[in-house]
Amino acid sequence: IFDNPAQLAREVARRIATLIRKRQAEGRPVVLGLPTGSTPIGVYQELVRLHRQEGLDFSNVITFNLDEYYPMQPDSLQSYHRFMRENLFDHINIPAENIHIPRGDLPPEEIEAHCQAYEAEIRRAGGLDLVLLGIGRSGHIGFNEPGSGPETRTRLVVLDEITRKDAASDFFGEENVPRHAITMGIGTILEAREIILMATGEHKAPIVRRAVEEPPDRQVPASFLQTHPNATFYLDRAAASELT
Ligand code: F6R
Repeated sequence: IFDNPAQLAREVARRIATLIRKRQAEGRPVVLGLPTGSTPIGVYQELVRLHRQEGLDFSNVITFNLDEYYPMQPDSLQSYHRFMRENLFDHINIPAENIHIPRGDLPPEEIEAHCQAYEAEIRRAGGLDLVLLGIGRSGHIGFNEPGSGPETRTRLVVLDEITRKDAASDFFGEENVPRHAITMGIGTILEAREIILMATGEHKAPIVRRAVEEPPDRQVPASFLQTHPNATFYLDRAAASELT
């Protein structure tokens, strides 16, 4: 639990940088799972700063984003492809071929094969070393909404009503928020060697309490992180305020 979101972001970025440097010294790549949204922006800013000012080298980093809206064109204002370019990838030296983000611009009949290929690509990279997560007020991680269990893999999902409400301002009205998304599954996420979930702000406090203190349950997909041997919640005081 951190005093403020800036401290939390610095600490998470420091952990990522330590892992990148360790793998570089070993001559091995590092495979990261990455979220979008407001929560990770401070971490991405700090990683960009470490690249610019301290020479943190991303040439051995491979990334897999958690999710993308469906349908969604990669250049749209709300696209997670665009978000990642603007907030991170355009500002560091990650090779373009190392970046993976689910595609929101495929015809429906190609989605299933795309999701399976995404899983295969993660395996080919050697599996996820570290996944960063935010948490939605619905209890989602990625876009694994209530009802998602630990067996789920990368797939097309229906977005929860709370999630669509929370995205309404980005889309200039709830009616414009896509009803679907493509997301890594809970099972995909739980296979990562290490997981960091970040939550900041008092609006996240009730769902953080349920995820941490209630038994793992499909109604709160983030609660399955309790079953992982190396998952850590990074919270600011506000998000931690309902923990007993
Ligand atoms: C986004 C994602 C979501 C967000 C969650 C929290 O790629 O995977 O699970 O992490 O909706 O969003 P913010 O950080 O905007 O509160």
